[in-house]
This record gives sequence, structure tokens and C-alpha cells, in this order.
Amino acid sequence: MESTTSAAVALTTATAADVDVDLIFVPLFEDEMPGAALPGLDEGTGGMLGRAVESGEFRGRPYQLYLTPLNDQWRAGRVGVIGAGKAREFDTDRLRKLASAAALAARERRVPRIAFLNRHSGAPGKGVQAITEGLVLARFSGDTYKSGERSAPPVEEALVISAHGGAALEGALERGRVLGESCNLARELCNEPSNVLTPSIFAGRGEAIAREGGLQVEVLDEEAITSLGMGLLLGVSRGSSEPPRVLVMRHAPAGAPARPVLGLVGKGVTFDTGGISIKPADGMDRMKDDMSGGAAVIGAMRAISLLKAPINVVGVVPMSENMPGGRAIKPGDVLTGAGGKTVEVLNTDAEGRLLLGDGLWYARHLGATHLVDAATLTGAIVVALGKAASGLFGQPDGWVEAVRRTALRAGDRCWPMPLYEDYREQIKSEIADMVNTGGRPAGACTAAMFIREFVDDLPWVHFDIAGTAWAEEARAWQGKGPTGVAVRTLAELAFTSAEW
Ligand code: BES
Ligand code: MN
Ligand code: ZN
Repeated sequence: MESTTSAAVALTTATAADVDVDLIFVPLFEDEMPGAALPGLDEGTGGMLGRAVESGEFRGRPYQLYLTPLNDQWRAGRVGVIGAGKAREFDTDRLRKLASAAALAARERRVPRIAFLNRHSGAPGKGVQAITEGLVLARFSGDTYKSGERSAPPVEEALVISAHGGAALEGALERGRVLGESCNLARELCNEPSNVLTPSIFAGRGEAIAREGGLQVEVLDEEAITSLGMGLLLGVSRGSSEPPRVLVMRHAPAGAPARPVLGLVGKGVTFDTGGISIKPADGMDRMKDDMSGGAAVIGAMRAISLLKAPINVVGVVPMSENMPGGRAIKPGDVLTGAGGKTVEVLNTDAEGRLLLGDGLWYARHLGATHLVDAATLTGAIVVALGKAASGLFGQPDGWVEAVRRTALRAGDRCWPMPLYEDYREQIKSEIADMVNTGGRPAGACTAAMFIREFVDDLPWVHFDIAGTAWAEEARAWQGKGPTGVAVRTLAELAFTSAEW
């Protein structure tokens, strides 16, 4: 697939004037003269750039673009100055987005060969990695089912111009490439319609990605799921003609310590109609991406393996459709999870937490000592945070904070949400251990509270990505559609165990 074959990104230590591409991108801050970014740049443009800055035509606002030719002292035909915003707000997240915006702009203009100047002032490897991630993310195409004219293909060649070379920086480039590609693989899965991506097909595609990445993989079929007693997952899948699956991936590098074992669990609902508590028709098509958490776990596991994380990691993705039907579960039904907990299903549309309950139990069963789940779990988190951030829940505070810091570095914005004991009242059942919905107040928090019942006292983090998995609007750095949220965070976490 074109978006994942991105060998086209490479490092160059040549001076900018010697880089042989069609278009060189140079980030420029607000209130900055071109010479500060690159000595001789303004002269190369015959003074055009300097005049554009002085007149206010180019003001360095984030993602603002100014393209102008370069003279014959330069091997590149043109420079694309890209606004980098305020210098004091600059970080690797901005840099990643700038690189992505640059590559998307070149792609749209059908410019085949580009270079991007690393202006990161911190550790050069961090800058190179972020730029590479951005350049690779811009290779994603969402219109694979169009039979006629499609959007422009990704750029053919993208170079990262770096003052320093060497093994460490080549390593940073490789890291950026693997993380970017793994995000794109997750985005491709999220983009698939549910008639193509049924639970069994999802499991098969996930299995192939994981195997190619060097992971040990197992797919549990309905029989195996039944003998494990995963009654919550089985309950959700009852209404569908498509049987459920559980994809299990293991990264067990030679010499890894017995502990910790990171357990990643992702919601894999390939389509969520709501079941008997059926959703309104408006916007229901979006529910094909209700497996985004599962796709994120698959992408992250691939990156963890390819980048040789030093610890043991297990990935578990319970997969199901949520459909109404003659055999579907009904409000008031009671289900029993694999760990023996019973749930009174008051609303069949609160299905994600049922899958996660059995998925988290299984990750623990496989020896996970630290759990993280990602799920498009509640509309309530979209009400609380909009599309600006994922909801972050968990225990204990130290673990939540460690995950939060990793997420920030990885460019997955998230915001801490509370797990007050008070919420437990809302999920009490008259006839079973708990109900599966606490009603409207604090809907995202009661959902997280429900999941917590399945992790006991283990360190655990829950990302509610219902608002962040899908971009409703195109931005300079990212088109409409699946975002690949949580992939980089879950992957990077496997490299931070020294801080846990
Ligand atoms: N998959 C949905 C959550 C969702 C909503 C994701 C909007 C993306 C955008 C989830 O399964 C769901 O239906 N949740 C219900 C829970 C309720 C019935 C307690 C919700 O949020 O309405
Ligand atoms: Mn639902
Ligand atoms: Zn759902």
C-alpha cells in the first residue's frame, strides 16, 4: 500500500543550497527575518522573502505558506517558507505538524521532491524524528475506494535537512518512519467500511500487520472465546451474523525482564448500530470507526516490535459488531464476564465497556502488570472535551502522570478526568454486580468507572478517544478522516519503563 511504503524519507547533512529537490521547506517564526532561519536564504530569493516579511505579507502565522523561486546558487528550484508561529510556543508537536503541512501542501501541488529543514533547537534526534513522523503521516490517502480521479499521490521523495548526521540521527529517522507508518496503518483500518472490515477480516488484517512486524500472534475464534468464558464480548456479538474475534499480539524480546509487562487493550467494534437500543440514523455511518482503539493497539504493537522495545508487551483487541437482531441481547439482560463479574445491560449501546471488560481481564490473565486501553467509548467525552483532546482516566496518579507525559511528547493531546468514588453509585445494579450505564451525568467518567472494575488494583490508564479518532475538518497538517490517535503514545510507552 502506498502510504506505508515510505522508504522515500531520508536524512541529508548537505547545506541547504546543495540539496537537490524541487522545493525546500524552511520554518520561520513570527517576527523573524529569513536570515535567522538560514543564512543566505533571502539573497537566494533575490530579496523577495525579506520584502514579504517586511510588508507583512508573510507573518509567520502557523502553517502560513510563502513559495518563491531560488537563484542558481541553489540546486533546489524554490523555497517554501512555512509559518512556525511564536518561537516560545515551539515544540516537537508543532514541528511534526509543520512537516506534515509542508508535505501535504507539496502533495496537493504535485511537487514530487521536497526537503524540510530541521530547526529544532533541542536534541537533534527529537527534531528529526518529529519531522519524519510528519512527512510520513502526510502520505496517508483516504480515498482508496474512488474508481475515478483520486487525490494527488504522496510526494516521491522527502529529505530531512539536518546539521548533524550519524547513527543516532539515522536511528531517529527510522523511529519516526516506523511510528508514522504504524499510524497510517491504523488509519487505513479505521477508514475501512464495516462491510469490508468485519471482525474476522479485522482480525486477519491485524494478524498480518503484526506478523510482518515480527510479533507472536494468535486469533481467538468464537469457540476459544466461549471456552474462556468471555460472556460480555459474546453478549455484544450475539445480534450479529458476524462472529467475534480476539486478536492477541505478544512482544517478548530475548533478555527482557519478567516485569513489568505492558498490556495494551483496544476497543474493536467494527460497527456500532447501538444494538436493540438503536442509534438515530443521522451520522450512524461514523460508527465504522468504533474500532479505532483496536487499530491503535495493532499499530502500536507493530512499532514496539520493529523498534525493539526492551520489555514484554501484550496487545489484546476484542472485535465485534454491535447489531440488533433476533438473537441480540436486550435491555435488562444479565451477562457474565470471563472473570466472573455479572453485568445488567441497561443499554445495548454501551457495548464498548463490555468488550473492554473481557479484554482487560484477558490482558491481566496473560500477565500484564501495567494496563492501558484506548476506546471510542462515549459521546459524553466529546461533550466534555470536544475534539481537542482525548479523555485520560486511570490509577494510581503516578502511572496516569507517566502516561500523560508520554502522550504529550508523542503529540496525542489528552486531559485528565476524575474517577470519584461517588460515580460508583450510578453503576449499581439491583440484580447483578453492576449496570452498564450510569445515565447522562458524567457519562465518560461512569464508563471509566465501569472499566475499572475489571483491572483490580493494577496500574491502569483509559483513553477515551471518541472525540479524537476522527477529524471532521481538514487542517493544514491533517486531512479529514481517521487520525491515528494513540498509536504513537502506546508505542512510545514501551520505551519509558525506567520512569514507571
Ligand atoms: N461508540 C459509541 C461512542 C461514540 C459516540 C464514539 C460518538 C464516537 C462518537 C459508544 O459505544 C456508545 O454508543 N456510547 C453511548 C453510551 C451510552 C449508551 C451510555 C453514548 O456515548 O451515547
Ligand atoms: Mn455504542
Ligand atoms: Zn461503540
